Amino acid sequence: MKQADLGLDLSAKRRRKREYLDEMERVVPWARLTTLVEPHCGAKGKASGVGRPPFALTTRGTELVRGSLAGWQSCFSSKTDADLTDFASSQRWDTTDSKWRLIMAHVLIIGASKGIGLETVRNALEAGHQVRALARSATSISLTHPQLEKVRGNALVREDVEAALQGVDVVIQTLGVGFTELFGPVHLFSDATRVLVAAMAARGVKRLICVTGFGAGDSRDSISALQRLPFHAVFGRAYADKSIQERLIKESTLDWTLVRPGVLTGGGRTGRYKALDQPSQWRNGIIARADVADFCVKQIGNLASVRKAYVLVS
Ligand SMILES: NC(=O)c1ccc[n+]([C@@H]2O[C@H](COP(=O)([O-])OP(=O)(O)OC[C@H]3O[C@@H](n4cnc5c(N)ncnc54)[C@H](OP(=O)(O)O)[C@@H]3O)[C@@H](O)[C@H]2O)c1
Repeated sequence: MKQADLGLDLSAKRRRKREYLDEMERVVPWARLTTLVEPHCGAKGKASGVGRPPFALTTRGTELVRGSLAGWQSCFSSKTDADLTDFASSQRWDTTDSKWRLIMAHVLIIGASKGIGLETVRNALEAGHQVRALARSATSISLTHPQLEKVRGNALVREDVEAALQGVDVVIQTLGVGFTELFGPVHLFSDATRVLVAAMAARGVKRLICVTGFGAGDSRDSISALQRLPFHAVFGRAYADKSIQERLIKESTLDWTLVRPGVLTGGGRTGRYKALDQPSQWRNGIIARADVADFCVKQIGNLASVRKAYVLVS
């Protein structure tokens, strides 16, 4: 007997139930599972003439498998079985230490033509992901790679964003405004995020990794007294908009991660930086764009960072 023989409405096609049951059979073979369950089946009940009859060992084991299967399926509630067939075949999972990690995904990077976005494109390709790079000047990206698709589009235009989400598993948003734009009204971050959250809901894409900045949202209170005045004078408008952006994301049903780098520098990836998720640790500092990209790409399959905000400094 195997997990897949339990009659759990398996379709003939190799869909998520079968994938899951085969994997479960590998991790906890049915024989081992029933050995674990048997002592808890109880000899009381009908056998002793009182109470409800005992559940058969197979029933108990099947219910256990059914329960864990339902938990697994709920992770993908927005995806249909057909989507999941594609999902499973387009991705590889690493389960070596019993933690599920996505090794290869189809990633949409919004704001991909320069800065953190371009570094993220580079890192994601290096990590083996399929990358769709969206920016108004995406065609100017000088990188070429068989797994890179450059898409010219505007993050404020719903049709552009919805089209770019086709077949995507994970979105990384790395939008930025030019220095001179900091001194006028800034709405890019909140407006683009409104468009993105609605488009992701419409397309059933759940995972969003978004770069905002140290000083956005509740990290504002961690700006030192010395930096507060110049920070607000220069970045005040942009960060007020980034705070709205963070609120929209937090209020959504997406599986989000907020990435708040300190002051950005150029240069290569060092891998030596701190990702601070506790408000008591939050402080300003410098960090290379390439290291921010490194962190973003590492969060693609890291479910532990879902619904968390990180301040990044070196
Ligand atoms: N500078 C700092 O010290 C610092 C510190 C912390 C956080 N941050 C934040 O980190 C983020 C990234 O910074 P960065 O310097 O890497 O950015 P950047 O070099 O200015 O790049 C911004 C990207 O956004 C794209 N973009 C802008 N408007 C767009 C639109 N409407 N549609 C599509 N793409 C659009 C740009 O591409 P196109 O122009 O081709 O569309 C570009 O690829 C920014 O939000 C920034 O505020 C900066």
